[in-house]
Amino acid sequence: MSGSIFGKMFRISTFGESHGAALGVVVDGCPSNIPITLEDIMKNMNRRKPGNGQIGTTRKEADEVEILSGVFEGKTTGTPIALLIRNTNQRSGDYGKIKEIYRPSHADYTFDQKYGIRDYRGGGRSSGRETAARVAAGSIAKLFLEQLGITVTAYTRSIGSVMVEDTDLHLSEISQNPVSMPNNKVAQQALELIAKAREDKDSIGGTVECIVTGLKPGIGETVFNKLDASLAYAIMGIGGVKAFEIGEGIRAASMYGSEYNDGFCVKEGKVTKTTNHSGGILGGMSDGSDILLKAHFKPTPSIAQSQQTITTHLENTTIEITGRHDPVIVPRAVVVVESMVALTLADLILCDLGANIENIKKLYR
Ligand SMILES: Cc1cc2nc3c(=O)[nH]c(=O)nc-3n(C[C@H](O)[C@H](O)[C@H](O)COP(=O)(O)O)c2cc1C
Repeated sequence: MSGSIFGKMFRISTFGESHGAALGVVVDGCPSNIPITLEDIMKNMNRRKPGNGQIGTTRKEADEVEILSGVFEGKTTGTPIALLIRNTNQRSGDYGKIKEIYRPSHADYTFDQKYGIRDYRGGGRSSGRETAARVAAGSIAKLFLEQLGITVTAYTRSIGSVMVEDTDLHLSEISQNPVSMPNNKVAQQALELIAKAREDKDSIGGTVECIVTGLKPGIGETVFNKLDASLAYAIMGIGGVKAFEIGEGIRAASMYGSEYNDGFCVKEGKVTKTTNHSGGILGGMSDGSDILLKAHFKPTPSIAQSQQTITTHLENTTIEITGRHDPVIVPRAVVVVESMVALTLADLILCDLGANIENIKKLYR
């Protein structure tokens, strides 16, 4: 099993390697009659796209998406939607060096051990480029959620030690700086840190935060498919993610119940909470408040400093990786996090439709 299928009812199947002919995805189970344009997809693709020389890899890919099926006269038809992204800027020669050497902290060694064959050009399926297909599919999930009044917004919360504090968070500024931070001033400091890491032939980690608004209570299941577990599965499946938090996350372990518990109250006839330490999830189901989650990324594995490693013939050696790599994964991963959250919610919302007979009666009659 190659683990390339995600979701039960809103299901995606991705394919393609970083330096193969193309990447792509088939989205199955998307309801019909959702208005969709290529621009809707490209707007997200452009946020993930490499090519920002200031912070990103210098690999320039247009990331143009072709809609091959499932859309007619600007609307989804309820049939499988196939999306293709051709690779146009492969420089496989860059990777000749790693043909017989395992990069530290990347998937080269483990992939070889598992399959006995490895597309060493750019990491194949383990490349960050694989996330292009997820972003294309996530765009469709977002359009589905928009129809229900649900929004998914992610941004860079921190890069290395440079972090946006709660009191300095301005969502309107996310699109105004190249690192997608909700604070332009802090973004400038982050850019300086990234430039320094690049100068030192190094890389740096960081955190993406995501907020979901408009989700009604009761989405997610109570036992194995808890909403927080499903979101963790989706987020931990992104290359480079090393930790996931919901609401207060790790900080909850050092809090008192009197501090952590979110009090319920009724405001203008609506159930609400006095605080949201639980991040909008209780007992594995959405509670109607905003979903708050964090994805913590490690530093980019490929760095130009000399590192100790081994060859495929099990000899000790060193490697300096000089291909086209991001000194930080986080800014390009913001839209990947949004996409995986949107895909998870689209799937769980469709799964929820059969949970209560009253709902089934309403839908059936
Ligand atoms: C958007 C994105 C871009 C990435 N770019 C790079 C890159 O340029 N160089 C690199 O070595 N790893 C990059 N990665 C990380 C690797 O894909 C990842 O570290 C590798 O597959 C090993 O998986 P693991 O870190 O989850 O163990 C990127 C990841 C994402 C999500």
